[in-house]
Parts: sequence; structure tokens; C-alpha cells
Amino acid sequence: SLVPVAELLKKAQEGHYAVGAFNCNNMEIVQAIVAAAEAEKAPVIIQASQGAIKYAGIEYIATLTRLAAEKASIPVALHLDHGTSFTQVVQCIRNGFSSVMIDGSKLPLEENIALTNKVIEVAHPLGISVEAELGKIGGTEDDISISEREALFTDPAEAERFVKEAPADALAIAIGTAHGQYKGVPKLDFERLKEIRKRVNTPIVLHGSSGVPEDAIREAVSLGVCKVNIDTNIREAFVAAARLVLEQNPKEIDPRKVLGPAREAATAIIREKIRIFGSNAKA
Ligand code: G3H
Ligand code: 13P
Ligand code: ZN
Ligand code: NA
Repeated sequence: SLVPVAELLKKAQEGHYAVGAFNCNNMEIVQAIVAAAEAEKAPVIIQASQGAIKYAGIEYIATLTRLAAEKASIPVALHLDHGTSFTQVVQCIRNGFSSVMIDGSKLPLEENIALTNKVIEVAHPLGISVEAELGKIGGTEDDISISEREALFTDPAEAERFVKEAPADALAIAIGTAHGQYKGVPKLDFERLKEIRKRVNTPIVLHGSSGVPEDAIREAVSLGVCKVNIDTNIREAFVAAARLVLEQNPKEIDPRKVLGPAREAATAIIREKIRIFGSNAKA
């Protein structure tokens, strides 16, 4: 059965590693995530973004993941990524998700706290974990300068207040990462992460982690990041493998011949990430 993210992150915090949270949007990626975690003997989080929900539907994602988790010998969690509303959170809970994120980062602080608490009130009695976001992570395509992005970073004092007033199980922070493919190399604000970690005991989540150099990920994990989100690197590996098959065999008409290698490529990159996060051999 699906395990709550809080449980996985508590162990990760104690063991000084991070659990990989991998985005899925089809059967092949769900299978790749579980196969990789199984091969590495790692606890794992499968998560569904807004785009994934729109594409596959909450029910398909939940059913595929539940089946994969049942067959697996490692702990698997199913998490809503960047949940947009209380209604969506309830829909995911109803469909068996073991964890939800409510992303109130665009709201004023008080409203973010209030919305997060509303979600905690319904989720916690059901044993479901809650991730909140403070600071704005944004995307690599956002047309903003470095100093403009810095202005959106998480404020350590605000983070301390946030987790006191809205006791979420995980807190996503903005320290220089962004969603999608980076143009250059992202620079993370490790001093800020240290300051946040001093004031906040809640497990910290790093979003936008695809494209962040391996050393920076390791450093972030050593400074208290317990959950690392990866989507783009899976998409890149999956589509590159499919593209190669199609280029080499322009007459190919069997989807399995295209998606099979894509699934294998996704499995390989996820295994690599798991080892970087240090969650291998932790299941
Ligand atoms: O939230 C992070 C995802 O990488 C964005 O995914 O385009 O499927 O909504 P999406
Ligand atoms: P990337 O696509 O940049 O890896 O970000 C994933 C993410 O943060 C999902 O919430
Ligand atoms: Zn994210
Ligand atoms: Na990224």
C-alpha cells in the first residue's frame, strides 16, 4: 500500500539522505520509477503535476501507482505536486494519494498559512502528508533577471513563522532552482538554506532539481534537503530514447518498440538520481 511521505522524510532526515520524488504522466514512467527504486532498494515518491493530471487523469495515475506499489518490495508514496486548490487536494485524497502539496506560494503569507492549514485539517486525520511552499520557485522560462529571482527566494524568518503556524510535513523553498531546463548552470543559495535549516525542523524540499549539478544536489542534501523533485531529466531521457528509435527506424509502427526503450532510459536516469540523493539501500 502507499505510504505517507512524512514517514519517508522522517527517516531521510535521520539518515541524512533525500528521497527522490519523480513526476509521472503515463504507465511507462510509473513503471520506470518503481523499477528504478526496486533495483536500488530505495524508498520512492511518485508525483503527479497539474499537467500529468490533465493528461492522464487522477484515477489513472492513482490506479497505476497503487498497482505498482502493491507489486513492489520497497515503500512507494503517491503525492500531488503543486496542488492548486482545496478541491483538488480532496479529489486526490479520495483517490488514494498518500500525500498532497498545496502550493500557496503565490498568495500573501497569511493566506498561504490559512490555505495550508485548511489542507492539514483534512489530510492529517486521514494519515495523509502535506507539503507547503514558501517563496516562489517559478520556471526557467520566466522572463526575469537573477536579482528579480532572488527577490522571490524564501525568507528564513518567514519560514520559521510559517511552519509554526502551519505545521506541514514538508516545506518547499526557493533558493535558486527553477522548473524546466536551465539555460546556464543554476547557483544555489546555500547560506540561505543553512539559515532556514537552523530555524526550521520541517523536512525541506528542493524543486526544479533537474539540471542542478550533482555536487550542488549533494551539498543541498547534506544541508537538510530531504525530498528532491525531478521531472525534466526524466522527460529528456524518455523522449531522447523514443526519438532515437524513430530516427533509426522511420517505418516503425509498434508503440512498444518506441516506448520500451524510453522506459528503460527513464529507469536508468532515475537510478542515477537515487544514488546521488543517497536513498539507495535505504528501503
Ligand atoms: O511542477 C513541475 C512540473 O515539472 C511541471 O509539470 O507541465 O506536467 O504541469 P507539468
Ligand atoms: P524539474 O522538472 O526542473 O526537475 O522540476 C520538477 C519539480 O520541481 C516538480 O515539482
Ligand atoms: Zn515543483
Ligand atoms: Na530544473
